[in-house]
Amino acid sequence: MSAANSAPSSGPALNRPIGPGRGMGHRSLEKPKNLRKTLVRLLKYFGPYKLHLVIILITTAISSLAGVAGTYFLKPIINDLTKYIGHKSPDFSNLIRTLFLMGAVYAAGVVSTYIYNRLMMIVSTGTMRNIRVDMFRHMQDLPIKYYDAHTHGELMSLYTNDTDTLREALGRGISQLVTSLFTVCGVFIMMLVLSPLLTVLVVVMIIVMTLTIKKIGGQSAKFFSKQQRDLGKINGYIEEMISGQKVIKVFCHEDEAIEEFEKLNENLRSSACSAQTFSGILMPIMGNLSYVNYAVTAATGAWLVLLGYTDIGTIASFLQYTRSFSHPITMISQQFNTLLAALAGAERIFEMLDLPLEEDNGFVTLVNIDISPDGTIRETSRKTGLWAWKSPGEDGRYSYTQVKGDVRFNNVTFGYSPDKIVINNISLYAKPGQKIALVGSTGAGKTTITNLLNRFYDIDQGEILYDGIPIKNIKKDDLRRSLAMVLQDTHLFTGTVRDNIRYGKLDATDEEILRAAKIANADFFISHLPHGYDTMLTGDGANLSQGQRQLIAIARAAVAAPPVLVLDEATSSIDTRTEALIESGMNKLMEGRTVFVIAHRLSTVRNAKAIMVMENGEIIERGDHDSLISEHGKYYQLYTGMFELD
Ligand SMILES: Nc1ncnc2c1ncn2[C@@H]1O[C@H](COP(=O)(O)OP(=O)(O)OP(=O)(O)O)[C@@H](O)[C@H]1O
Ligand SMILES: [Mg+2]
Repeated sequence: MSAANSAPSSGPALNRPIGPGRGMGHRSLEKPKNLRKTLVRLLKYFGPYKLHLVIILITTAISSLAGVAGTYFLKPIINDLTKYIGHKSPDFSNLIRTLFLMGAVYAAGVVSTYIYNRLMMIVSTGTMRNIRVDMFRHMQDLPIKYYDAHTHGELMSLYTNDTDTLREALGRGISQLVTSLFTVCGVFIMMLVLSPLLTVLVVVMIIVMTLTIKKIGGQSAKFFSKQQRDLGKINGYIEEMISGQKVIKVFCHEDEAIEEFEKLNENLRSSACSAQTFSGILMPIMGNLSYVNYAVTAATGAWLVLLGYTDIGTIASFLQYTRSFSHPITMISQQFNTLLAALAGAERIFEMLDLPLEEDNGFVTLVNIDISPDGTIRETSRKTGLWAWKSPGEDGRYSYTQVKGDVRFNNVTFGYSPDKIVINNISLYAKPGQKIALVGSTGAGKTTITNLLNRFYDIDQGEILYDGIPIKNIKKDDLRRSLAMVLQDTHLFTGTVRDNIRYGKLDATDEEILRAAKIANADFFISHLPHGYDTMLTGDGANLSQGQRQLIAIARAAVAAPPVLVLDEATSSIDTRTEALIESGMNKLMEGRTVFVIAHRLSTVRNAKAIMVMENGEIIERGDHDSLISEHGKYYQLYTGMFELD
């Protein structure tokens, strides 16, 4: 309810929910670190709504001042009425005119209130939409490192908690703050005009009330923030227990989980109880104080009338003003806290928006080409299935290098953090069409090699060449487009099986998808799903087996049919017979293309052209299967070990 239409309402206006409202207490502790900077940044988002804001300002002013002015009419009306007492045939025309005028003023107030509320919603929802778009865009382009360092919960809370407080503050807080300010100023002036003496009295009493709110509000703020912390803890706990439900059941930890939950739950109960008690007693206290305030003012006013200093109309209208004076003051202090909390949230959002994007200084791009019979390469917009790297020369002309899939690592060194080297001076090469296998124990650095190849991370020393071009010169998007990866942890999106396979090549036809699924040997199980290729997958493909998910991931890479394919443990959950079928399909698809295979099951890599055995970030052995076996080294151990275990 706006301050404008609260003025004429009956009953003491103070007897309304005041003091620490929803969460105000805990929020009052949260303040932005750099208020000015955040505010300026936020104001920039209002840029497209300048005209809206001007109209909002004008209509809020009209709305609040109409309320203030409307109350003033009580004075002439009551004074007129007292004059009629005892008259046989009084002339009501004056009274009726005043009543109409009063009605017109309130009507203007109601219309303005509607207009500014409506416009404010347009501005706030539009601004929030723009902020969310900026956030999501920015997140898409942040380096993988950022995701390593932040939990999903942290990132999600930017989209939920922080945008939520901001939306609330923008939608209601600002207009309430402005109307309250207008109302307080207007009412104060009118009170002074009506009776300076009574005004002083009211102001003194308001100060006493405000100090009381502060004292009790401060107490409850402490408990509110404890309640919020306890709530955070219990939510985090529940989330973890839900995602770990299977592990809990397997190890029969249900009782322990419940016990821990009960502890957290009891903490929450006790802090919530204290917080609510304090905010609960605040309201009746304020209500009673406001009645006292009202009574004292009325008695003093009556006394002034009796002494002949003023008339009844003035006092009646003054008393209405006292009702609508303290309410906006409490509103202002309350909205101020909400605004501060919202700005603190906005600051966290802007901090994320300020993070440097994934750096990309690449200038070499990937283009479709035609090769004429004499061997000259021409760029084309047609989808020819042939690709070239297009690099600008110094003379401004472009040179084209056909994409073949020749990958070389020269003395590459890398660590996720500077103090721990994960890849130590590695050199390897894969010629077009070769199948290179990386094997080695867990944590040896195999996945890391693929992370470097697609530039999830940039190398510290050495160079990686792709068809002779340093990959740091290739635009990241184009580089990644030329590689198809089956990542170690498969991710399937919500959508149909067909959509998920098409993810590898957005314009793939249904025939291409079918062919890719056949190569990946996924066609058989997909056609036995309830709706075949149109079966919906949800929750990361929870309705499929681990192996079936891998088959879809392989089909997704196969449909992309790129010059280089990287399979990281792609067949780890697939039975050996299916794996053999996939392999023969893949061999056909990948003819003349380069394949990196990472596998624990060494039978998978046996027929690779070169097998690199990694240990602690170094390649300790390399060669084909037979030569490695005859070396009797690590590979021999791994290989024979595998059979012993079988
Ligand atoms: N995002 C990361 N941040 C920091 N360190 C990492 C990260 N990813 C991997 N590591 C570390 O790098 C090393 C190599 O990891 P990598 O994933 O390359 O091993 P892997 O050979 O693929 O092992 P596996 O066979 O288990 O898949 C490990 O010691 C691991 O702790
Ligand atoms: Mg790995």
